[in-house]
Amino acid sequence: MRVDIVTIFPSFFDVLDISLLGKARAQGLFDLHVHDLRDATHDRHRTVDDTPYGGGAGMVMKPEPWGETLDAILDEAAAAEGGGDPPLIVFPSPAGEVFTQATARRFAREPHIVFGCGRYEGIDQRVFDWAAERARVELVSLGDYVLNGGEVAVMAMIEAFGRLVPGVVGNPESLVEESHEQGLLEYPSYTKPARWRDREVPPVLLSGHHAKVAEWRREQQLERTRRVRPDLYDAWLAEHGEG
Ligand code: ADE
Repeated sequence: MRVDIVTIFPSFFDVLDISLLGKARAQGLFDLHVHDLRDATHDRHRTVDDTPYGGGAGMVMKPEPWGETLDAILDEAAAAEGGGDPPLIVFPSPAGEVFTQATARRFAREPHIVFGCGRYEGIDQRVFDWAAERARVELVSLGDYVLNGGEVAVMAMIEAFGRLVPGVVGNPESLVEESHEQGLLEYPSYTKPARWRDREVPPVLLSGHHAKVAEWRREQQLERTRRVRPDLYDAWLAEHGEG
């Protein structure tokens, strides 16, 4: 899978060299390219922003550096991919649709995603409108709060979908049982020692009785989801029923 990131803070993504994704990069499973938006500026100050038309607080990212950078990425992709589908372009934005585990699964199946990290009060609207004529464009939000820029959101999205790309996580079974994969939160986990600071591991987990363990874990998932995330619980019940 190929990922391009356009940002004014390229070094922000240096951390992707470590951990599971770093290993996947080294093995060629995850082909990451980070682009400095300021490389597509042509003035002495490498300006990427300007005041908003119509007035108001803050600065807006200028369209020209975005157009030039995205042109280069899309032209190279068109040449390499030989007339296949253009990449998916994702702009993290608090005005986008909320990113969920379902989005992560969908992104993990894309052969090529381009992320455009906005800063300041956002990017000139014409960049989105123009890009949507050349490729599929999505605005995606991490949640109902405002970040200073898209970089942290892109990191979070890469962490979420990168580990779903086949071969990136060592044990694919560990993906099936975790929170959100089945619409429920995860059950609590324990390891040795069996007694720690006067706290015992729930006896059923030491019983060796696989069916009872599975039943206990499912009860814990349902109880935890009902208490912490009634929205998810109601959706799960609507799909699976009381039984
Ligand atoms: N940029 C600023 N806030 C954001 C959010 N909540 N999600 C994604 N990108 C953002």
